[in-house]
Amino acid sequence: MRVIIKKDYDECSKWAADFVAYKIKRFHPTAEKSFVLGLPTGSTPLGMYHNLIKQNQAGKVSFENVVTFNMDEYIGLPPEHPQSYHYFMKENFFKHINIQQKNIHIPNGMTRDFEKECQDYETAIKKCGGVNLFIGGIGTDGHIAFNEPGSSLTSRTRIKTLRLDTIKSNARFFDNDMTRVPKTALTVGIGTIMDAEEVMIIATGKNKAEAIKHGIEGSVSHMWPISILQMHQHGIIVCDEEAVSLLQPETVNYFKEIENRTL
Ligand code: GLP
Repeated sequence: MRVIIKKDYDECSKWAADFVAYKIKRFHPTAEKSFVLGLPTGSTPLGMYHNLIKQNQAGKVSFENVVTFNMDEYIGLPPEHPQSYHYFMKENFFKHINIQQKNIHIPNGMTRDFEKECQDYETAIKKCGGVNLFIGGIGTDGHIAFNEPGSSLTSRTRIKTLRLDTIKSNARFFDNDMTRVPKTALTVGIGTIMDAEEVMIIATGKNKAEAIKHGIEGSVSHMWPISILQMHQHGIIVCDEEAVSLLQPETVNYFKEIENRTL
C-alpha cells in the first residue's frame, strides 16, 4: 500500500487530481478502449474535482473517452434532489468537463427493482472491462462507499441500511435534520471496489484519524472496511497531517521517507 502524506486538504486534492490526470493520459483512452474511473461523492473529493475541472478546461486532460461509475446513491432521492449523488456529481464535476453523458453511470436509487439495478450495475462494470482506478473517501467509522462496518469484505453492489452515525454525520447536508436523511442506499460492494486495477482513497481532517489508524496499522477487519485496502495490490491512501495524527510516528516517517526517496 502507498500512503501519501500531504500537509493539508489542498495539497491532498492537488496530488489526487494530478494522479488521476496522469493515469488517464498515460492510458491514451479511445472510443474503443476507454479509461474507467470509479468516483465518490462527499466533501473530501470536492477539491480534487475542482482541480480536475481546471485541468480539463485548460486542455491538459480530456474526459472524452472516460467512463465513470459512481460508488453509491441514496434510495428515494430523485436525480434533481440537491442532496442526491446524481445532482452532486452533475453540479460539482460532470457539467464542467467534456465527459459524454452516455459514459456516466450512477446507481438508480429510484428504481422499483433494486436487485436488478445492482446486478445490472455489476454487469455494466464488467462490460467496460472493469474499473481502472476506483477513487473513494471514507466515513469516520472507516466505511467506504456505503459499506458500513460489518459489511462483507467480498460484497457486491447491493442495498445497505445506513448506520445511525452515518445518518447523523450526513445530516449536515440536510439542514442538520436527521429525519430527512435517507436510511438506505445502493452501494457498490467492497469486492466491487477491490476488483479495480487500482484504488485511491482520500482522507483528510482529524475526524478521519481513527479510521486511518485502523486502516493502516490495524488488522484487516470488516469492522473497519477501509482496512481491506491492505489486501489490494495497488492501493493508495492520500492523507493530510491531521488524518495521520493517530498513527505511530515511525509509521508516518516510514511512508514519508519511501515517497520522498530519490535514490
Ligand atoms: C458518505 C459517502 C462516502 C464518503 C463519506 C465521507 O457516507 N457514501 O462515499 O466517503 O460520506 O464523506 P466526507 O468526504 O464528506 O467526509
